[in-house]
Amino acid sequence: MLFFRRKENYSFVDIGLTVDVHSHILPGVDDGSPDAAHSQAILAELHRLGVRKSVFTPHVSRAMFPNQAPDLRERFAAFTSSLPDELQDMQFHLASEYMVDEFFGGIDDRLYWPDGRILIEMSYYQRSPEIRETIFNLLMDGRQPVLAHPERYVFYQEKFERKKGVPALERLYDMGCELQLNVMSLTGAYGERSLDIIHWLLDHNMYRFIGTDVHSRSQIDRFTGFKVNAAQMEKVRQLARNNETLF
Ligand SMILES: [Fe+2]
Repeated sequence: MLFFRRKENYSFVDIGLTVDVHSHILPGVDDGSPDAAHSQAILAELHRLGVRKSVFTPHVSRAMFPNQAPDLRERFAAFTSSLPDELQDMQFHLASEYMVDEFFGGIDDRLYWPDGRILIEMSYYQRSPEIRETIFNLLMDGRQPVLAHPERYVFYQEKFERKKGVPALERLYDMGCELQLNVMSLTGAYGERSLDIIHWLLDHNMYRFIGTDVHSRSQIDRFTGFKVNAAQMEKVRQLARNNETLF
């Protein structure tokens, strides 16, 4: 496979992403878009690049972003009803990206992906002690959990082994948790160890979905120079097709 390595210069349009399942476009609720004008600029650019359906996934965590579902629904309705004509052929859905912490289990009004899956995350620097129990409980409740950007967690990056991957992460996968790749991670922006995890997970067909996780308009300009080989890029394209089954 060495022959194919990094000969191509893939960028966002090569993914063929029409359905985005992870974004911080809903304005003013987290560390994503600050206002409606900025959100419209993000959507205009994603639209230009071929995205037609977008799931908004604002952070929900007790410590940093204590968003409540009713307030998010209200903001979502207000924002999506005031979009310009050129975005009228887009469809939107409100979900959330839930931090797995000691409070997560107590949230009863939750926002899911269009098909009922739930997007979860951990702190980049500290594994959530509740992660296994949370995945187990969600599955028992008939809720399919999807872990956002496994390649970004530093505690997994530190544990990557060339022959074994990240066994701690694979245990979550074996429990039934699905994994979602971030577009930005493909650029190598989060380091070689993050790329190692990406290559491993792609080579072992362990990712299921892909999302932009877009936080700002300028970020989209950096969705280029993906550090994957041709075979891995084909698997990335398949993730985009998997997204299309959700919405
Ligand atoms: Fe996110």
